[in-house]
Amino acid sequence: MRKGILDAVDNTFLSALQKTIEAKDATKFATAYRQTIEGCYSCHKAAEKPYLRLQIPDHPEAPIINFDPAAKWPE
Ligand code: HEC
Repeated sequence: MRKGILDAVDNTFLSALQKTIEAKDATKFATAYRQTIEGCYSCHKAAEKPYLRLQIPDHPEAPIINFDPAAKWPE
């Protein structure tokens, strides 16, 4: 099951993200980035690690794990 999620993140989300970068499409990039993080997080939940909740870094070297227990995204 986790292998399936990994393949989905790799083949679907990350390749979609790469295409938006190659196309220099910032709008589609933002959407693809969020979808990728949601895909990443679905595996953390499947791996019984829901506390590894990701976030979009808001400055360089920002942590990608959000330890705020009240965080609402990704679900
Ligand atoms: C196939 C399942 C799977 C996918 C897909 C996945 N992760 Fe994880 N991730 C894990 C597991 C399991 C752990 C916990 C590893 C451990 O506890 O040693 C983890 C841990 C992490 C950690 C914490 C590492 C640390 O320092 O302990 C980060 C950050 C992380 N993942 C980010 C991501 C990001 C970003 C993506 C998507 C690009 C992603 N993960 C996709 C399963 C996955």
